[in-house]
Amino acid sequence: MTLHVGLLYSRIRKDEKLLLTELRERDHEVTKIDVRKQTFDISAAPAAFDGLDIVVDRCLATSRSLYATQFFEAYGIPVVNSHETADICADKVQNSLALEKAGVPTPATKVAFTKETAMEAIEEFGYPCVLKPVVGSWGRLMAKIDSESAAEAILEHKATLGHYEHKVFYVQEFVEKPGRDIRVLATDGEPIAAMVRSSDHWITNAAKGAETDVFELDDEALALVRKASDAVGGGLLGIDLMEIGDSYTVHEVNHTVEFKALDDAVETDIAATVVDWLEGKADAAADELEVTA
Ligand SMILES: Nc1ncnc2c1ncn2[C@@H]1O[C@H](COP(=O)(O)OP(=O)(O)O)[C@@H](O)[C@H]1O
Ligand SMILES: [Mg+2]
Repeated sequence: MTLHVGLLYSRIRKDEKLLLTELRERDHEVTKIDVRKQTFDISAAPAAFDGLDIVVDRCLATSRSLYATQFFEAYGIPVVNSHETADICADKVQNSLALEKAGVPTPATKVAFTKETAMEAIEEFGYPCVLKPVVGSWGRLMAKIDSESAAEAILEHKATLGHYEHKVFYVQEFVEKPGRDIRVLATDGEPIAAMVRSSDHWITNAAKGAETDVFELDDEALALVRKASDAVGGGLLGIDLMEIGDSYTVHEVNHTVEFKALDDAVETDIAATVVDWLEGKADAAADELEVTA
């Protein structure tokens, strides 16, 4: 069955190019929806969305993802990832709460709303510990706090100069990982591929220049990936793990996940596997419509 797929985007990166090529090779019809040029009416779907079987949200900006996914759901157009998943993954506090609730091992984390209480949380963890922005990715604006004087300075800067989101202080234990972390790309908890990201720096994002290499998941990691995916409502997800001895801790789940670094690191054809999954999703959504019709 050929599909009519909407690709919601603001910039076509290599990740989107890989998806577009794969979709077109399979003769699926693709409508590219530039979120910057589109308006969303609360009462009815724009004519441009007629006939869409499924929409893939590839927005870079979190706020756009969060609103646009709600509109597609209101229009009855299946969208991946779902609004629920985007909502949880877009915010590190919600992400951590969801992982903890699902019983997924995740770094000890405290949230505070003033400089004074943030300082208390930092002192409770001791040094070093980590301060992260609640919204953001690519390892940006993360701080490893080594001393009380560094803590005071960072908290004052954030409180004085930061956007209101930076006035939510997300404090985390520092995990002594072995110079690398693990990124798993999964669809509804089923891993497509995984890589380690190694760096001399404590922040090991591929976007920060970490070296990447293929990683074979053991049974424990597989189980954690499933659980972490379920915890945020499933979808096409990037699950980040750190190794602690022979075990793992999951520090976050990403929702509009980039996969070009992974595509380069592993043999698996990432775009083909993602499109297989999309086809399944669209089929399932069509079946559901028939049942309710
Ligand atoms: N608590 C921690 N202890 C040690 N390293 C961490 C910790 N949290 C994050 N890191 C490192 O920083 C990187 C980015 O952190 P992450 O929470 O994934 O934020 P982002 O959303 O910016 O990717 C991780 O991939 C990991 O290498
Ligand atoms: Mg990350």
